[in-house]
Amino acid sequence: MCGIVGYVGEGKALPFILEGLKKLEYRGYDSAGIAVLEDSHIELRKKVGRLSNLEASLDGELADSVGLGIGHTRWATHGRPSDENAHPHCDCTGDFVVVHNGIIENFASLRDALIERGHKFKSETDTEVIAHLIEEVYRGDLADAVRKAVSMVRGSYALGVLSKHEPDKIVAVRKDSPLIVGLGDRENYIASDIPAILGKTRKAYILEDGEMAVLTRDSVILSDIAGSPRVKDVFNIKWDAVAAERGGYPHFMLKEIHEGPKAVRDTLSGRISDDASRIVLDDVKLPAELVAGVRRIYMVACGTAYHAGLTGKYLIEKMARIPVEADLASEFRYRDSIMGPGDMMVVVSQSGETADTLAALREAKRRGVPVLAICNVVGSSISRDADYVLHTWAGPEIAVASTKAYVTQTVALALLATYLAQERGTIDEDELRRFIGEIKSLPQKLADALRLEDRVGDIARKWAPVDDIFFLGRGIDYYVAMEGQLKIKEIAYIHAEAYAAGELKHGPLALIVEGVPVIALATQPAVREKTLSNITEVKARDATVIGIVPEGSDEMADIRRQCDEVLEIPAVDPLLMPAVGVVPLQLLAYYAAVARGCDVDKPRNLAKSVTVE
Ligand code: G6P
Repeated sequence: MCGIVGYVGEGKALPFILEGLKKLEYRGYDSAGIAVLEDSHIELRKKVGRLSNLEASLDGELADSVGLGIGHTRWATHGRPSDENAHPHCDCTGDFVVVHNGIIENFASLRDALIERGHKFKSETDTEVIAHLIEEVYRGDLADAVRKAVSMVRGSYALGVLSKHEPDKIVAVRKDSPLIVGLGDRENYIASDIPAILGKTRKAYILEDGEMAVLTRDSVILSDIAGSPRVKDVFNIKWDAVAAERGGYPHFMLKEIHEGPKAVRDTLSGRISDDASRIVLDDVKLPAELVAGVRRIYMVACGTAYHAGLTGKYLIEKMARIPVEADLASEFRYRDSIMGPGDMMVVVSQSGETADTLAALREAKRRGVPVLAICNVVGSSISRDADYVLHTWAGPEIAVASTKAYVTQTVALALLATYLAQERGTIDEDELRRFIGEIKSLPQKLADALRLEDRVGDIARKWAPVDDIFFLGRGIDYYVAMEGQLKIKEIAYIHAEAYAAGELKHGPLALIVEGVPVIALATQPAVREKTLSNITEVKARDATVIGIVPEGSDEMADIRRQCDEVLEIPAVDPLLMPAVGVVPLQLLAYYAAVARGCDVDKPRNLAKSVTVE
């Protein structure tokens, strides 16, 4: 996720761009850059770090340049945060300049071919190929060149493009990444999101996938990527400036829950072969000997990432038949674990900065054990120190309670488990294809799960005054239950416990009395009967039970009958249920917190990134 801003008009470009980027810093903040037209050529300035670094380095320079400019605040995907990798990117001549939000999946092959044809690359980014492609196909019409260039790329993009040859225009185009066109008075703008333009206008076109806009001072011409004209209604923005930063959502947490489908789509991007028959983890560069030879995996993380790690343990053991020990990083680092040859560590971390996880990673490395990080932040300490990194592309997560990052972690771990099974031959080809099909369906399934929002909101408001909530599940459902109880605790401040359902009668059943709320996860057909008996046990003590079951699952009919209320989640392979099943639990915590008047995005005593022990 990144932020894009562009200006074309009769005024000064830079002040608008810098103001706009400030409003978009929530979309990424590891580096920033601008390009403006100055004396008929394009001036480019880029700086690693926050936008303030770029501003300081400009020191007032270019502030008076008039007419045309673009800017970008980056959330690194391809290539670590650095001055060179910051956007905008340009072609060999410096005449064509591009800002991009998204991922170009086939950038490696395009880049090789461009280098072979003599192009010189200055960054490690996927984006730079677009600038060189435009340079190659340009025949005096920038819009046409952009059309040709995007027809060669696969992946997601929102692009803003300038050229010194056509200094009166910006070309903008989008596919699977947001982009809007702001309509001003003798000036027009592009931006990734509404807050960037609110200081100037409340009128905009919200571009749809496959739409292109050519902006000049006095006109905006809309077309599709093939060049056929498009007509759209002007969108009148009614949000206030603060709500706009959250995309109109009342809290970042809710916005981030809704970003789950996109985050998963991005995390899968480029990691499944075109014919959907294989998992491709070329970006991770795991050596074949390691994949074939690993005998035991240590799965280490903290908080929500640990809960995701537990689902990974379950999948890797089941699919790739490699024993996995899952550990909290704070425990792992002080226990004298028996790590050695044949072992590998997988650490899971959204921020890549969690002190305990980093310490566990370093301990493994000290003992010669290779470490793979599942990490959301490129260039973070964990992603730098690990031997291999499988990035989750959730984009910046602002709310302290992790939601979209958890979902992408479970999906990244499912990719890893499937990859290990595929490479080690513990899965046959038909089953592999079927399972990959299920993985591919996840973005849509997540989007479908969000339809439960209103019902979950009603339940949450009803339950908001309670003192305790219990979560039950078996197998992988138990791990999802753990994540559900953590969410409720951390943002709604309700005491919550998750139990492996079979453990109930070893103690917790003593706490079940009339009306105690219990959430029972029952998504695993293999343990259906056992889960049913546990639900019956709590119902016999007059608990109020909400069951979470897969849609249309006839085999769960008797579970449905036992529950006071049932939430049906979209059906997907049972091993992939965590990504979908967690959605109602995240929404439950969110709406309970709102009903209790809690500070949802900044819960008391907690921090997003725990960089101390
Ligand atoms: C904090 C955050 C949690 C997160 C945990 C681990 O407690 O509030 O949301 O799960 O740290 O963080 P990491 O960045 O390593 O995933």
